[in-house]
Amino acid sequence: MIAIKNERELAFMRQACKITAAARALAGEMVRPGVSTEQIDKAVHDFIVRQGAKPSFLHYNGYPASVCISVNDTIIHGIPGGYVLQEGDIVSVDVGAFYKGFHGDCAATFPCGAISAEAEKLINVTKQSFFEGLRFVRRGHRVSDISHAIQTYVESNGYSVVRSFVGHGVGAQLHEEPEVPNFGAPGRGPRLIPGMTLAIEPMVNEGTYDVRILKDGWTTVTADGKLSAHYENTVLITDGEPEILTVTEGL
Ligand code: MF3
Ligand code: CO
Repeated sequence: MIAIKNERELAFMRQACKITAAARALAGEMVRPGVSTEQIDKAVHDFIVRQGAKPSFLHYNGYPASVCISVNDTIIHGIPGGYVLQEGDIVSVDVGAFYKGFHGDCAATFPCGAISAEAEKLINVTKQSFFEGLRFVRRGHRVSDISHAIQTYVESNGYSVVRSFVGHGVGAQLHEEPEVPNFGAPGRGPRLIPGMTLAIEPMVNEGTYDVRILKDGWTTVTADGKLSAHYENTVLITDGEPEILTVTEGL
């Protein structure tokens, strides 16, 4: 069952998502050489709590932090710790906040100081692939129309999309139906209906899409050690244009 949110629920969801987007922005501003990933996690944790919200990821399936911070060849679920960011790193930040009964979920990859032209292109293509998918976030289209648009754009730029993790419905639960893969043939999966809220999150690798999970059970890295980037927003299907909920305007 895919949850259709009513206007009252959507009002809460917009608030949760604004807090989440502001948390992502705060994390992004902190990305610079010399800052440790646990400093970012602590600042974001405290920000979310000060907003009266709860970090969605903290203790989720045993996850030990409020933010996932995934550097360079780490794709997702990097656990913040003592690592000190270096000039040239690319830093994926993924964060969720729970407020008035609803979750927001968003991510982005930020440059640490000056980065290579190759890394910059990877970040830009990853972000743009979300917006290619967004063109299909409209009533009547099917979920895999989004997936197909993302994959087509990413692969036309010579990169690969991660297969073993996907986007998802989001709302009262962090992970709801349906799954939103970043690959696949168009015209499959549920039809989109106004009131559905989706976390669309392309994870894009420079090389192979194969992943490896480290012994901590979370940290997910590229199998070939090449770079990876991530971009995610929580979006609402409406009668017309899709609404990106994880925006900071009006906070
Ligand atoms: N944005 C990721 C997701 O939707 C973050 C989950 S991290 C976890 O799956 F720690 F909460 F699992
Ligand atoms: Co997500």
